Amino acid sequence: MKKCEKRNGNCTAAVDPIDQLPVQCVGVWAKDKHHYLRNYLAATRNVRARFMPPKGTGGTALIDLFAGPGKARVREPVEFIDGSPLIATSIPHREHGFTDIILCDIDEENIAALQKRTEGDKRVTIIGGDCNQTIDKVVGKIPPNGFAVALIDPFGASNLKFETIRKLAAFPRMDLIIHFPLGSMKRNFLEHERFEGFLGLPRSRWGVDIVHGDDVRLLIPLFRRQLAMLGYPERGDVTYPSIKNMQQVVLYHLVFASKDSLGDKIWNSITAKLPSGQGRLF
Ligand SMILES: C[S@@+](CC[C@H](N)C(=O)[O-])C[C@H]1O[C@@H](n2cnc3c(N)ncnc32)[C@H](O)[C@@H]1O
Repeated sequence: MKKCEKRNGNCTAAVDPIDQLPVQCVGVWAKDKHHYLRNYLAATRNVRARFMPPKGTGGTALIDLFAGPGKARVREPVEFIDGSPLIATSIPHREHGFTDIILCDIDEENIAALQKRTEGDKRVTIIGGDCNQTIDKVVGKIPPNGFAVALIDPFGASNLKFETIRKLAAFPRMDLIIHFPLGSMKRNFLEHERFEGFLGLPRSRWGVDIVHGDDVRLLIPLFRRQLAMLGYPERGDVTYPSIKNMQQVVLYHLVFASKDSLGDKIWNSITAKLPSGQGRLF
């Protein structure tokens, strides 16, 4: 853990210079994650429009199960940036911003910061506690006949249970963007019981190919098959971009799943280029 980081991942070196509230301490690669999130949100504006007046009334929801405090401080080079909750709340009305934004976090400091940062925004519901425990409350806030996307961005595999995803997947239109923590799974392979709950599969059912830490990349197709059982077809060519640190080590992948082929098409179009603007090599 870096010196400027508290146990909850927030920064000890500074608060946000504008609102004076806590910020999460992040590496510069957090901007890559936010790049994909922003582009997905921009690219789905016409999908949202179908569920909002004058075209529809079902509503649109963004669920951020691991929301953080709402803002972050990049360690190097120092920069204050919006976190995923503020990226969602800041979508302008003309781009069909969400009708419901549900933010969850286990940490009290983050909940207090989220409350202040979203004060007065009637679309926002904040739910404190372990999201695996509060998921029924979350589900109760999602418009049943609308369009929704869940950002599922835990620190590590042990923070998320597959059963939580299963509850979200019960909605007919629920896109999923899931932080798949490949790097920490590789490092902690010997403690693999910590990610059985995340995968929703005991070690005995991973197959014979996954033996060493280097094999963890095979857990992504395994996880994807688990999502297929929840009604998210595997359409073959979907990309799960990797988020790498400055040494080009893969920290995690963003696994996307949609029940609608249009969702996959949109995801592929926004991930065809790296955040740097370069095309993908594969
Ligand atoms: C990677 S950070 C989220 C960053 C945020 N999504 C962003 O992009 O700005 C993970 C967050 O999950 C929270 N967290 C950890 N375990 C949790 C749990 N079981 N339920 C809800 N939140 C949890 C932590 O407090 C932390 O703020």
